[in-house]
Amino acid sequence: MKRIFSGIKPTGHLTLGNYLGAVRQWVEVDQHRADADPVFCVVDLHALTVEHEPARVRRLSRQAATLLLASGLDPERCTLFVQSHVNEHTRLAYLLECTATDGELRRMIQYREKTAGAAAAGQGVRLSLLTYPVLMAADILAYGAEEVPVGEDQRQHVELTRDLAVRFNQRYGHTFTVPRAVLPRVAARVMDLQDPRSKMGKSHASTAGIVYLLDDPATVEKKVMRAVTDNDGEVRYDREAKPGVSNLLDVLAACTGGEPEALAAGYDSYGALKKDTAAAVVELLRPVRERHAELVGDPARVDAVLASGAGRARELARPVVDRAYRAIGLLPAA
Ligand code: AMP
Ligand code: TRP
Repeated sequence: MKRIFSGIKPTGHLTLGNYLGAVRQWVEVDQHRADADPVFCVVDLHALTVEHEPARVRRLSRQAATLLLASGLDPERCTLFVQSHVNEHTRLAYLLECTATDGELRRMIQYREKTAGAAAAGQGVRLSLLTYPVLMAADILAYGAEEVPVGEDQRQHVELTRDLAVRFNQRYGHTFTVPRAVLPRVAARVMDLQDPRSKMGKSHASTAGIVYLLDDPATVEKKVMRAVTDNDGEVRYDREAKPGVSNLLDVLAACTGGEPEALAAGYDSYGALKKDTAAAVVELLRPVRERHAELVGDPARVDAVLASGAGRARELARPVVDRAYRAIGLLPAA
């Protein structure tokens, strides 16, 4: 069986970017890959790397788990749990901090972007923002994952994870499986509809360019119809020169299964492209919203899934992390 691992941070409401970049791939693996043993995690510790409100993180953690189930993850097939319920993640992260260098972490693009923003505002950042990719590496390596289905923005973090696994194995003997990132064919980086040169993130200052999984159809339509394009009027796939139009084509292709370049040929106006894209997104999200509405009335069921998921996750991670503790030279407890 191939172990697959991925995670999502409860820092905001889930977006269309999360869905197309990550969650949809997870559901695909869960439902259609007989050779896979998938493990999915709401990585709540990662939500503490930036300013946070305790009650909100708690609420968003349960909401993320509910939405993952609503998206089609089957708790009978996959292991779904919350990161802080399983101590092995932080236990392993320390050993990996003793494997990584500070220069390596300071080079991470996400860290540089976020610290640049904070510095401009005259603020500091939490130390955990720097070390966060090491915790992410621990998340992945603790489960012996071979594949990590993520969006484009996580590629560099998975590369770091590979580097750390290889280095640890070379120094201390074979301990970790070396994982690889798996990106979706299209829409690996969905852009903000109002600012198509920036990624659609959970917590942009303005929400007008972000489609949330729980937005109602009228809201989705409004956001897509108002998407920023350009004014040459030509429907063509060119992410550099025409980021807004290309983003719509990517989203449409991801929803309908076509190719963005080929789809472009079928449109001679932005209006028609937007209309079809809006309709495709509404249809894509409809079943997710409906199942979410059912599940949200039964939080005990979600909690039960998370409790049994954490139990299985502990069993999987414990022996791997114990092995790493021994390999690095720590005396086993009697
Ligand atoms: P995060 O919201 O940062 O926890 O991301 C969870 C998953 O969604 C990761 O695999 C990300 O790469 C993916 N993701 C987040 N935003 C986008 C986006 N705008 N486009 C594609 N994938 C995304
Ligand atoms: N860092 C990822 C993000 O911001 C979330 C994450 C944490 C993750 N641990 C992971 C993704 C392990 C894949 C595997 O999106």
